[in-house]
Amino acid sequence: MNIDTIKIFDTTLRDGEQSPGASMNTEEKIQIAIQLEKLGVDIIEAGFAAASPGDFDAISKIASRVRNSTICSLARAVENDIKLAGEAIAKAKNRRIHTFIATSPIHMKYKLKMSPDEVIKRAVSSVEYAKSFTDDIEFSCEDAGRSDIEFLKEISDAVIEVGATTINLPDTVGFRMPSEIGEMIRKMYQHIGNRAIISVHNHNDLGLGVANSLEAIINGARQIECTINGLGERAGNASLEEIVMILKTRRDIFSNFKTNINTKEIYPTSRLIANITGIEPQPNKAIVGKNAFAHESGIHQDGMLKNRETYEIITPADIGLDINDTLVLGKHSGRAAFKDKLIKLGFNLEDRALNSSFERFKILADKKKDIYDDDLRAIVTNEMTKATQIFELISLQIMNCSSGVASSTIAIKKDNHEMIDANIGEGSVDAIFKTIDRISGYEGRLMDYKVTSVSKGKDALANVTVKVKFNENEPAIIGHGLNIDTMLASARAYISALNSYLSMEGMLKIRDISNKETV
Ligand code: KIV
Ligand code: ZN
Repeated sequence: MNIDTIKIFDTTLRDGEQSPGASMNTEEKIQIAIQLEKLGVDIIEAGFAAASPGDFDAISKIASRVRNSTICSLARAVENDIKLAGEAIAKAKNRRIHTFIATSPIHMKYKLKMSPDEVIKRAVSSVEYAKSFTDDIEFSCEDAGRSDIEFLKEISDAVIEVGATTINLPDTVGFRMPSEIGEMIRKMYQHIGNRAIISVHNHNDLGLGVANSLEAIINGARQIECTINGLGERAGNASLEEIVMILKTRRDIFSNFKTNINTKEIYPTSRLIANITGIEPQPNKAIVGKNAFAHESGIHQDGMLKNRETYEIITPADIGLDINDTLVLGKHSGRAAFKDKLIKLGFNLEDRALNSSFERFKILADKKKDIYDDDLRAIVTNEMTKATQIFELISLQIMNCSSGVASSTIAIKKDNHEMIDANIGEGSVDAIFKTIDRISGYEGRLMDYKVTSVSKGKDALANVTVKVKFNENEPAIIGHGLNIDTMLASARAYISALNSYLSMEGMLKIRDISNKETV
């Protein structure tokens, strides 16, 4: 039997980062790319090089670090975008440029203000130019889902002729039904044959991203674009974990297909993304939601005890989830045992990160009865991705009045110099952030504030995510703080956003990509 490999193209770092509130710093992106490589992703879309110097920097660092996955940058069909994409991926062992232009009548007429012929000409010249950086070129017909099939064939022929190796047909607005995507892919596959790989990129606006991707596979697509936890623009993209686990679990239907994904890395990858973005998958999310393996009703529990297969079609172990994961380490455990546990969880830390993670583990073990794998994952991720500690929290005291006004007194260290000050606010969080503003001299505007609990129990770690603007002309910065005490976690999150802002300051000048070159 002929078994075809479905290439998994992960766009968590590009389309996923376009989820509201999901922006990540460079160190976070590098850690995610390393984990995606471990997961076995074939192509990592590491970003959109022309979007900002920060994006460019993250892509080029990822290109130097990752060896087993192809590293890709997105580029509009614009010369400067393609040049920056080519430069950003230059150090990758395997590199791809993904260039795109819209092909639907509505996009060509209103957004591009270009005729179909002009669009074809631009697509061809873009692919030709991209070829000067790498042979591996993906061309996307943006809004293919609402494009005319004859035009899709014509533009695909033209770009394949000059060297495009993958033709991606996105359902950009998530409008299509599985039968419609199936028909589009069947027709395109009959037309293109083996001249290029056909890819799909399905958005989830009607909740059909995964179903549409599967229908595309059945009809000839051999690359699927997807994201971890289904992150992405608006309602997100088709979720990687769902597609991969469907292909694995329903081998009866998909016996002719395989992926290179190591499914045991799915859960660790999902946790890493949730910890970094602060966006938790919904509890009932297939495969990686908190309840995905929880059997609540008595009848189900009884069936599970008699034979797990009565109610379980996937085992937690299949995705690398250990449901009996209470750590047997305690406050007296040594560094070697701690390191050993981290290696089992897939973290191989260099000495500095190991030492600081170990210190944080000891402090936690003093306060928290049960420590779970997810607690360790959160501590280590937080440690590995934190920006240079320009400001460091030393202590925090809060006083609440019954009127709702709170006062906080905070000590912060900078350059070995300790500063202490107090301020009042409407509630504890407001008081804390205003005090930090006063001490640091930077006034932040809070755009978003979120708390999630990392594991179970009243003493669970709080993971606070803040989104703060320190300069009205620059993008908001995300910060994370972890602590059993939610107020301490809040202070840490705010200071971490400030530290990220200060370390990135020079990088933040966003190039204007909103007008002029709108393709
Ligand atoms: O949704 C979309 O069309 C995209 C393209 C840039 C591939 O994200
Ligand atoms: Zn998209």
